[in-house]
This record gives sequence, structure tokens and C-alpha cells, in this order.
Amino acid sequence: MRELAARGHQAVGLGREELDITRADLVEQAMRLHRPDWLINAAAYNQVDVAEREPLAALEANGVAVRHMAVCCRDTGATLLHFSTDHIFDGKKSTPYTEEDVPQPVSAYGVSKLAGELYVRAYLDKYYIVRTAGVFGPAGRTTNRGNFVELMLRLAAEGRAIRVVEDFYASPTYAPALAARCVGLLEQAPFGTYHIGGGCAVSWYQYALLIFGEAGIRAEITPTSEKEYPTPARRPKYSVLSNAKMEAAGLDPMPPLEQTLREYLKARE
Ligand SMILES: NC(=O)c1ccc[n+]([C@@H]2O[C@H](COP(=O)([O-])OP(=O)(O)OC[C@H]3O[C@@H](n4cnc5c(N)ncnc54)[C@H](OP(=O)(O)O)[C@@H]3O)[C@@H](O)[C@H]2O)c1
Repeated sequence: MRELAARGHQAVGLGREELDITRADLVEQAMRLHRPDWLINAAAYNQVDVAEREPLAALEANGVAVRHMAVCCRDTGATLLHFSTDHIFDGKKSTPYTEEDVPQPVSAYGVSKLAGELYVRAYLDKYYIVRTAGVFGPAGRTTNRGNFVELMLRLAAEGRAIRVVEDFYASPTYAPALAARCVGLLEQAPFGTYHIGGGCAVSWYQYALLIFGEAGIRAEITPTSEKEYPTPARRPKYSVLSNAKMEAAGLDPMPPLEQTLREYLKARE
């Protein structure tokens, strides 16, 4: 919303209280009321582990609800920008995933997000599917879900012994930088599927060390692994996304992780 306003676009933001995206009638009503040129869907069922026991709830919000939006966009001529995820991949690669790589989710969440992508492509020509990964941004300071940076800082402040996996690779993505490129896509890029990740590859352990380094905090942290820290849902071990297509479309490369962490921490002071 901030990025759209900064670039002079008129935008209406609807949270869960204003619009339940799983209700086709309400989605249609909202589209009729606001008549948007662009519909940006950042809502999702994203409890990756809980989705293993609630696969239908995940499918409803991440798949079928996206179909409601795609159908409305088709009928009104609006462009849909829909957020997807690295979890549509199995994470078996060791080089950044491109838009050409074949999706192979390994969890109920991943399957539900892939279903959303398929619905968008099934009904629309005018769409952007933006796959991102490991997002952190200012909203994480106030939302229930938080973000990885806040989690690390909180555990360190509580003096807890911290264990972070070193056998999973992320490309942490700074939300304001992601938002700027998404609006850039809407303004100027050809339609299609784009990867917008942080642009670097770090293990979650290295990422935590970077956070503490930039924050100037001494924390009791040790590396761990998937074996010692199993979770109900499988996650891609390697979640690094290639931003080459986004850059070829004329958008600025993502800023370095250290710079975005500094920016994030400064705004937090
Ligand atoms: N965060 C990441 O690291 C990451 C990585 C890759 C992709 N993504 C994608 O980015 C998008 C945004 O994720 P996020 O991380 O920003 O998540 P978030 O902060 O949890 O935002 C998702 C929002 O969707 C809302 N929502 C859930 N079900 C809804 C429904 N039926 N109707 C209306 N609103 C509903 C949630 O409300 P409640 O809080 O009330 O449930 C929440 O406000 C998602 O598509 C996600 O798959 C995120």
C-alpha cells in the first residue's frame, strides 16, 4: 500500500475483516464496488506445518479463492498480481531456481500454492505470479506471525540458547524492496511468472549470524540440522530464486542482504 501511494496510485487495502477471500460472493462484490485495474492478492493460508493436518483449508484459501479472483479479473479485465512461493519447488537444486524449473511441491502448503498458480494461468492472460521466499519487513514487528529477524532478536534478548538449521538455504527478501519491484512489474513488465527473492544464498544459520552481526548483539547460537529439528511439513532445502527474468524486464536488482538488514534494524530503533 505504501509503495503504491508513493508512486501516485490510488489503492484500497482490504484485510481479512473486510474481505474473506474464500467467499466467492464477497470477492465479486468487492470487485464490483472498487472496480480495480489491478488486483494484488497477498492473502494466504500460510501455516505450513498446520496445513499438513488441514490440507483442505490450505487449498481453499490458496487455490480455490485464487480461482474466484482470477475469474473476477477475467470478467472485468483487471490484471491480477498474485504472490506465490519457493515452496512450490522441492529444493533439490543447488543453483537458483528459475521460472523455467518444474514445480514439485513437497507439502500440502506447496501443493495448495501451486494450485493457486494453476488457476491464475487457467483463467487469465493478464497476470503476474510473483514467487518470493523468506520475506521480512516492518510489518513483522507488529503482526502475530512476526518474521525471522524478530524471532532471532527476541530469543537473544531473552538470553535463550539459539539453534538454527544450517542445511537449509534461503534468499531472505526485504518486503519494501519486493513491493517496489512488484509495482514496477505492474507498471512496465510483460505479463507472466517472475521470481523475486533476496538475490543471495545463505543458510538460515548464516542468516542468523548476519542479523546478530548487524544488530551488534552477542547471542548464544549453534548450528543444527533437519535431523535434529524435524517439522511436520517438509520444506525445500534450497530456496534460492534467480531474479534474472525480473532484472531483464528492466527492474532494479534486489539490494544486498546486509544493506536491507541495516535498513530494517535502523527503522526499528
Ligand atoms: N512470508 C514469507 O516468507 C513468504 C515467502 C514466500 C511467499 N510468501 C507469500 O506471500 C504472500 C503473503 O504472505 P505473508 O508472509 O505476507 O503472510 P501474512 O503476513 O500472514 O499475510 C497473509 C494475510 O492473509 C490473511 N488471510 C488468510 N486467510 C484469509 C482469508 N480467507 N481471507 C482474507 N484474508 C486472509 C491473513 O489474515 P490472518 O492473519 O487473520 O490469518 C494475513 O493477514 C502469500 O501468498 C505467501 O504465500 C510469503
